[in-house]
Amino acid sequence: MTAPNALIAMKDIAKVFYTDEVETHALSGVHMDIKKGEYVSISGPSGCGKSTLLSILGLLDTPTGGSYRINDVPVEDISAAERARIRNKEIGFVFQAFNLIGDLSVFENVELPLTYRDGLTKAERRDRVQSALERVGMAHRLKHYPAQLSGGQQQRVAVARALVGSPSILLADEPTGNLDSKNGEAVMALLDELHQAGSTICMVTHDPRYADFAQRKIFMFDGRVVDEETLQRLRQEEDQRLDAQIARARDRSVA
Ligand SMILES: Nc1ncnc2c1ncn2[C@@H]1O[C@H](COP(=O)(O)OP(=O)(O)OP(=O)(O)O)[C@@H](O)[C@H]1O
Ligand SMILES: [Mg+2]
Repeated sequence: MTAPNALIAMKDIAKVFYTDEVETHALSGVHMDIKKGEYVSISGPSGCGKSTLLSILGLLDTPTGGSYRINDVPVEDISAAERARIRNKEIGFVFQAFNLIGDLSVFENVELPLTYRDGLTKAERRDRVQSALERVGMAHRLKHYPAQLSGGQQQRVAVARALVGSPSILLADEPTGNLDSKNGEAVMALLDELHQAGSTICMVTHDPRYADFAQRKIFMFDGRVVDEETLQRLRQEEDQRLDAQIARARDRSVA
């Protein structure tokens, strides 16, 4: 059963990548609901499917099975054009590598998503860009170019770009991955402020300290959503397997 007022409702989502006779089951049987106003983190070991799940959540990719609704609208097999339209309206993305455009100014980078929207005047765009940059504390750097900013500042501009269209949900994939711990914490504090002000956020992170900022933590292992105890048990089993493998290799090299 989907929870009432779920903004995001995924049921039994699967993703299989087919490459040169190899099938990779990146996601299997993923159920996930996110309510309006929630702040959810997704964590789990490298390769467990976090980015794949976020790409499907953000309509950058399509699942190979299961159903997905945003605001009760089925989106799992709509056309690419319709996906792009819904993505532009409903989704704000923040990536590890910031992904700002180097030869556009801070103002122009943040304005860019609005230029794909119909019906906004130039003055309305300017007001929205200004207020998004104020929210992230970067309104004093409108004319700078990305290369003239620190990593932490670039990520704040990227957050402003994600927010400028007033999306239903903000998706962040390792938003602190390229930052030192001080700047990483500043970006986390910013996401926390946005959540307090009502934004819905789903963040992927490796780092348990950052996952703790979220209101609800989701754990993944090998393409599935698991509970925290199961994740710890599976991780321990994997560590033991690796330790045994290393010990065997040592024994062989001594022999
Ligand atoms: N385009 C692709 N083609 C083939 N396999 C892919 C593709 N993208 C991802 N995979 C595979 O799907 C699995 C999940 O990858 P994904 O990038 O979602 O992991 P992740 O949890 O985000 O890892 P990390 O923490 O290292 O970023 C991996 O085994 C990966 O090799
Ligand atoms: Mg990833």
